[in-house]
Amino acid sequence: MEFQAVEPSYTSKEGCRLVWKGADEDDTDVVILNKNELKNLVEIFKKNSTGEVELEDQSSVIRVNSDVTQFSLANHRLLEAKTTDLQDQVLEYAKVPHEPQYVYIGTKEFYPSIWIRDDEKKPEGTSKKHPKQSLIEAILSSEPEKIRQDLSPTDLFRVFATRRSTRKFEKTKVEDWKVDKILSAADVAPTAGNFQGFQVFLIKNKKTKEALAEAANKQPYVAAPVVLVFCMDPSRVKLKFPPNILEKFSLQDATIAAAFSLLAASGVGLSTIWIGMFDEEKVMKILGTDLRPSSILCVGYPDKKKPPKSRRKLKDLIKVIE
Ligand SMILES: Cc1cc2nc3c(=O)[nH]c(=O)nc-3n(C[C@H](O)[C@H](O)[C@H](O)COP(=O)(O)O)c2cc1C
Repeated sequence: MEFQAVEPSYTSKEGCRLVWKGADEDDTDVVILNKNELKNLVEIFKKNSTGEVELEDQSSVIRVNSDVTQFSLANHRLLEAKTTDLQDQVLEYAKVPHEPQYVYIGTKEFYPSIWIRDDEKKPEGTSKKHPKQSLIEAILSSEPEKIRQDLSPTDLFRVFATRRSTRKFEKTKVEDWKVDKILSAADVAPTAGNFQGFQVFLIKNKKTKEALAEAANKQPYVAAPVVLVFCMDPSRVKLKFPPNILEKFSLQDATIAAAFSLLAASGVGLSTIWIGMFDEEKVMKILGTDLRPSSILCVGYPDKKKPPKSRRKLKDLIKVIE
């Protein structure tokens, strides 16, 4: 694991992220410093001296020695960086203010100021004794739980549990920042070989929306406030596999991306209808593309909030192969 870079923090202009990289792409470690921690480290480096910086959890500490700087972190392996490398990069970084990068913070990242709530802990006196059960047994025997009211509206599991399709949208415009979130969700979806074998068309033009509604078996709700057409682009998938596999990958890429967008829309209080019934040729002609459409996602504010539809029981859905 080698120290690699000092980067802007995701959340604060004044702090930074120190990044270590291992042998493979997934092997990364990050230490996030807040404003004061970075300031203290910069002071030691400016003086060309050795010293210690205590992190805000009060048990993690950075020890700057003349040769190697050690990061002794609570509940984490020791991280090290060559002091001269770290010094050069930190001082260079500290010369100018940095814009925060608003992206997702991975669970692997060490963040001393964030406490992860222990959901398993029940309040005193309410703990029920369960006989020892495997996870799959617990799933198969479980009853649907009431949706927890204390979860944030964007909590993924709350979104799963409350989402419901809509075929009647309010005319209200969807805010640009919500459209941004929906589109960026499509961008972060997993894709075969990370080649992103799909393309999204964001339809703004009213006439085009109406033409799509016509091409979609005359389903009028297709002309929704936000209309996204997800198309397959197998030519982007640079993997050495037969064309039918690349086609399959691009269909899966486009479908997962649309599902990510659907969940993002639900997470920001919108509703959607997924459209699979349409004439592909007509849609391609309307969009002026030779990419095959896989689905149309129609998004807007629902005219009425409805409860989610029921599903079969989990034990009917899951077949366990022992
Ligand atoms: C692959 C697929 C194709 C669909 N095609 C259409 C469609 O053409 N028209 C439509 O009104 N709904 C369509 N739907 C929406 C489903 O009818 C809807 O998701 C389903 O009834 C479950 O309801 P829920 O989304 O509220 O849980 C489609 C959904 C999927 C996943």
